[in-house]
Amino acid sequence: MPDQLKPLTVPDLREAKAQGRKLAVLTCYDALFARLLDGLVDVLLVGDSVNQVLAGEDTTLSASLDQMIYHARAVHRGSRESLVFVDLPFLSYQVTVEEAIRNAGRVLKETGAHGVKLEGGETMAATIRALVRAGIPVMGHIGLTPQSIHQMGGYRVQGRGPEAHDRLLADARFVEEAGACSVVLELLPAALAAEVTRLLAIPTIGIGAGAGCDGQVLVLHDMLGLNEGFAPRFLKTYAQLAGTVRQAAGAFAADVRAGRYPGPEHSFE
Ligand code: KIV
Repeated sequence: MPDQLKPLTVPDLREAKAQGRKLAVLTCYDALFARLLDGLVDVLLVGDSVNQVLAGEDTTLSASLDQMIYHARAVHRGSRESLVFVDLPFLSYQVTVEEAIRNAGRVLKETGAHGVKLEGGETMAATIRALVRAGIPVMGHIGLTPQSIHQMGGYRVQGRGPEAHDRLLADARFVEEAGACSVVLELLPAALAAEVTRLLAIPTIGIGAGAGCDGQVLVLHDMLGLNEGFAPRFLKTYAQLAGTVRQAAGAFAADVRAGRYPGPEHSFE
């Protein structure tokens, strides 16, 4: 590896918080985008949102471990500097701690990723502790946890009201004490996310959780404007690629139909 490349390490995440350096995280599901994003963001997150964004499912629930491993291996192949974290899919870690270790171990062994992400606070503390003890870095995920979407009744802001507020703070403490290296805070009031961020020594990575977090994560295809019609309040789109793709595909089809493509410059003698 050339000298100028300085791959991030998992301990660097905590160090970034200590130094007040904000962390940028984007989802990534393939080698092509990994090559484009590598080194620009701190973490490439192989989210189980791949099940919705690329596979067209309504929720993340049907994502499989093999599916996550397939995408994570591709992302690892395309990246050298950014950290790669992989979502453990629904039911790959909730049944027993042993199963969680085996499945998370598979992710690390078969993909080259640096760590896994899993959803849940207090209820997942023993699992997080066991994974970390086995040498597997864990990113927590609390607040809106999409794998519990039916129980939560929809994609709505969590942690509102005194009881939910205190529950969320307790969950954050459990995740940190169990040894997680960072934690995603999804769909929380900004003041609560900021309170969690002050409370923890590990970095908080927000999505729909305001500016007080130590870092931010967005789904790549959403922020590139590829996911038309998806416009939650927290999302900022940095490009409008859906229109660009449609325009290019339309121009190609028109050229083919009019006999303008291929031209002599695209043909062989
Ligand atoms: O699956 C995912 O992409 C995620 C992020 C949105 C945090 O969990």
